[in-house]
Amino acid sequence: MKKTLALTLAAAMALSLAACSGDTASESSSAAGTSEAASASTSAETGTVANKDKPLVWYNRQPSNSTTGELDMEALTFNDNTYYVGFDANQGAELQGKMVVDYIAAHADTIDRNGDGIIGYVLAIGDIGHNDSIARTRGVRSALGTAVEGENGIVSDPVGTNLEGKATQVQDGTLEVGGKTFTVRELASQEMKNSAGATWDASTASTALTTWSSSMGDNIDIVISNNDGMGMAMFNIWSKANGVPTFGYDANADAVAAIAEGYGGTISQHADVQAYLTLRLVRNALDGVDINTGIATADDAGNVLSDDVYYYDEASRSYYALNVAVTADNYKDFMDSTVPYAPVSNQLDTTAHPEKTVWLDIYNAADNFLSATYQPLLEKYDDLLNLKVDYIGGDGQTEGNITNRLGNPDAYDAFAINMVKTDNASSYTSLLSQ
Ligand code: BGC
Ligand code: CA
Repeated sequence: MKKTLALTLAAAMALSLAACSGDTASESSSAAGTSEAASASTSAETGTVANKDKPLVWYNRQPSNSTTGELDMEALTFNDNTYYVGFDANQGAELQGKMVVDYIAAHADTIDRNGDGIIGYVLAIGDIGHNDSIARTRGVRSALGTAVEGENGIVSDPVGTNLEGKATQVQDGTLEVGGKTFTVRELASQEMKNSAGATWDASTASTALTTWSSSMGDNIDIVISNNDGMGMAMFNIWSKANGVPTFGYDANADAVAAIAEGYGGTISQHADVQAYLTLRLVRNALDGVDINTGIATADDAGNVLSDDVYYYDEASRSYYALNVAVTADNYKDFMDSTVPYAPVSNQLDTTAHPEKTVWLDIYNAADNFLSATYQPLLEKYDDLLNLKVDYIGGDGQTEGNITNRLGNPDAYDAFAINMVKTDNASSYTSLLSQ
């Protein structure tokens, strides 16, 4: 936007110079630029800023190598107004692990359902190539003592089934609680990917648990999931009726409500802060103001975030929200997951912040977290920030299903992108670079 302003000024100067000197060539080209800008209905910028220079926010799926986790810095620095918005995956993963251990400690007398001295758990993995999913698997294994170190840190691969404790991806852990020493075993884990290729798939998770519970029955003392979508599917199909605590991640409203019925707990990744940041960065870039306006410093409406809910990492150009554990102790404060975060819920003035149009996609319209929590929040913030957002829902399987609907980037002032696969940033940036 600074660039735009400079260009506009340069054009204005060229125009006034041309008016003096009678240089008709530069006069007509400047005039054309001006009328084009004036005729664009939603924005003075449409048509004047190259797509490659428009604000671009990656969110929820950080451009990275799905095998090594290495960040895709080319995508993250696509232009001066490119950022990523997500949450601190390691801090959240540690919290999730701790939440499970705390639960075991508080229920040491009843947790071992078949009394064999082994606390058995099963784990639903979202996407073996997604940084956040990997972090959660590692966090749970570290906390429970089942983690083993591999070449690239703690192994996050699924075990398949492991009733005998022989798998090499994990080891048996030991936990001392309530004066007893338990062995902890990862009885089973699997990436929940359906046959069409969609990851984090809730119905695959419920099928898997049906299979696992029919062969391992009362060996299963705890069910853990990389997210609430899969967690709730497993809770509803089996754990609830069998009184087996089930832990997820995301603090979706249905999962929080289920804590009253025995769901063990979940983690809020502060989607209310992330959804705000996603659109706020766009707003600031388009307004040409300091990028931290309404974030680190209060804006003209009083919106501001404190550093206990997010931080910015300059090296990765990433804003990360912080996570909070949601358990039986505090779940009543988290019942509605779609309320804007109060400190950033003030309406911006439309004169100072005129309407702009944003193209935004969600990799899978059926993803519980993104569709039930994140998008409703975005829809509230887009009003507060005077942004007209086109929401594009993908099928979770192919990037093309989404990129096909980015046929006319000229019509938008900015882009917010959620990829099917974190390796695929160039499928989008190539369309913006044309
Ligand atoms: C969420 C998952 C979601 C995934 C999609 C994660 O941050 O926790 O629920 O399915 O993002 O990318
Ligand atoms: Ca047992």
